[in-house]
Amino acid sequence: MSDTTTSVLLTGGAGYVGAATADALIAAGMRVVILDDLSSGHADTIPNEASFKTGGYGESDKVEELLRDARIDAIVHCGAKSIVAESSEHPERYFATNVQASLNLLGAACNVGVKRFLFASSAAVYGAPTSSTINESTPLNPVNPYGATKVAFELALRAYAEAHEMRAISLRYFNVAGSTERVRERHDPETHLLPRLVRAAESGEPLDLYGNDYATPDGSALRDYVHVADVAAANLAAVNYLLDERTPPGHSAVNIGSGVGTSVKQAISAVERATKRTVNVNVLPRRAGDPPRLIADITRAVSLLGWRPRQSETTRIIRSLID
Ligand SMILES: NC(=O)c1ccc[n+]([C@@H]2O[C@H](COP(=O)([O-])OP(=O)(O)OC[C@H]3O[C@@H](n4cnc5c(N)ncnc54)[C@H](O)[C@@H]3O)[C@@H](O)[C@H]2O)c1
Repeated sequence: MSDTTTSVLLTGGAGYVGAATADALIAAGMRVVILDDLSSGHADTIPNEASFKTGGYGESDKVEELLRDARIDAIVHCGAKSIVAESSEHPERYFATNVQASLNLLGAACNVGVKRFLFASSAAVYGAPTSSTINESTPLNPVNPYGATKVAFELALRAYAEAHEMRAISLRYFNVAGSTERVRERHDPETHLLPRLVRAAESGEPLDLYGNDYATPDGSALRDYVHVADVAAANLAAVNYLLDERTPPGHSAVNIGSGVGTSVKQAISAVERATKRTVNVNVLPRRAGDPPRLIADITRAVSLLGWRPRQSETTRIIRSLID
């Protein structure tokens, strides 16, 4: 009898988004093989039901062997380096890991004939657009090396997909946040606002707020927070889209966000209400390159993937960080 279970190679599955994605794929009945070098991930976050290989996704020969042995149907590429400030100090690390090693992974997929590829991209591809919401036609104009690496690999993925009849998709996540029952954000350093706010409320240490004079309703910057469980559900929906025989070969880019803007001040108030503590705020001038608003237009995700955010109200995200 032939085995019809879908097998997915998940890079970065020991990381924050990757671990939540592993849970979603497994719950949907898929077989998950995680490839992670544990450079920023945690072995204890890998679900028991997944198989795990320690190693770099850029190691072409080993990856080809793995793709063949595990009879992989689709690749979900969540592995990356993703600290924006570090990318400005050490761009070479970011181009090596996010572009060069990713090209090796993509080459291995082509050599073995794995024709479905999901790339964890980022809203950082857009840089600092001035439009009120961002759709996928908004020009790609990254303002840091991290964003540039995401653009570079998206362009490569599109070219490979067209040349090799692959089905490929780049999901451009906005600000991923929140915890699931099993997975929480454990970045080191933690640069994301919501976990830093919760930490500031609990420790009493001051939190730096950059820019109080933007042309936004309360003067602080607006961002789009999307719950990690919703991102995992988007990844699952995208894998199903790639597996669907009616999906034409080629590459699509799709925004994954809540579609709603939350200001830094609104986030501070929500954390104060949820923790019943005060956040000490240290107001500083705007940072160069920080746009006033970054809010996703998620029309395409809804129409192409049948996905919509279900748990991404900011208050709900913050509650998940505290409970
Ligand atoms: N967290 C966010 O807000 C956010 C927003 C937009 C895009 N993204 C993207 O989503 C993906 C996941 O982000 P995250 O927040 O889970 O990051 P993370 O650091 O928690 O996870 C990344 C994982 O990749 C692994 N990894 C790194 N280099 C590797 C290599 N060469 N070989 C094998 N494994 C390697 C790390 O060990 C880690 O487990 C990344 O591509 C990131 O750029 C994240």
